[in-house]
Amino acid sequence: MGLWARFKNTTLYKSIYRNEYPDTPRNQVLVILNSVVLHLHPVKVPRRAVRMSYTWGLGGLSLLMFLMLTVTGVWLMFYYVPSVPGAYESMKALETDVIFGPFARNLHRWAAHGMVIAVWLHMTRVFYTGSYKPPREFNWVIGVALFLITVLLSFTGYLLPWDQLAYWAIQVGSNMAKVTPVIGTYVQRALLDGYDIGPATLVRWYTLHVILLPLACIALMAVHFWRIRKDGGISTPIPYDEDEVEGAVEAGLAADDL
Ligand code: HEM
Repeated sequence: MGLWARFKNTTLYKSIYRNEYPDTPRNQVLVILNSVVLHLHPVKVPRRAVRMSYTWGLGGLSLLMFLMLTVTGVWLMFYYVPSVPGAYESMKALETDVIFGPFARNLHRWAAHGMVIAVWLHMTRVFYTGSYKPPREFNWVIGVALFLITVLLSFTGYLLPWDQLAYWAIQVGSNMAKVTPVIGTYVQRALLDGYDIGPATLVRWYTLHVILLPLACIALMAVHFWRIRKDGGISTPIPYDEDEVEGAVEAGLAADDL
């Protein structure tokens, strides 16, 4: 008996891999169900649901941008000082004294723009394919919350360099919030932690930007992905191309296999 075959008989191997080699449909299903990483994927996906021209990969791109922002954001946190005297100075030091500093900062900035654009386009795709309709209406609502968080992450990050551009942009932004009917003044005060932009605003926005909003985004994304599975996977309209349907029937495929 070969070394590998003998290893496969050991308790160690069997405690990790609980199923046989995936050469039968049953074992193929078991491989997916018994693996912590693979079980996140459905066992079976209709081919037309993962067509690039249907989703344009935009949900996945939004996630990719979020992951890039997390990695580069943690990296930036090693250098950034969230105080009025420290913020701008630490950003300047990052640009000039830190190896790959400007690269990491720009990666963070571009990924932030990318996430806003990807999430917006993803939302548009979901709208135009009618994928917000039952049973996916709750996931649309989760999506709206994700969109708001994305915009808020972008907005709070903008103030952190504490340069003239950031300071005055936030002045304009929070004044826009102020003209919200009825609750405008309260919204502005909650955003600024006072009547004007100051040290308290910086601490509040920093905490929102690096802790509260990313955690909320992760929690909602988990629900979002879970719901996609529970709603029957990515929406897949009945194929409208008659030749495609005929071809599939001739090949003995069920509609789900398309
Ligand atoms: C952080 C932001 C978001 C991430 C990471 C994300 C991720 C995803 C992914 C990976 C999918 C699978 C299909 C695809 O890629 O198109 C999906 C589907 C979906 N998303 Fe999002 N999404 C986000 C924001 C949104 C927003 C803003 C909305 C709408 C307001 C939304 C509504 C939906 C719906 C309804 C589906 C199911 C679509 C279908 O079955 O065809 N998502 N999302």
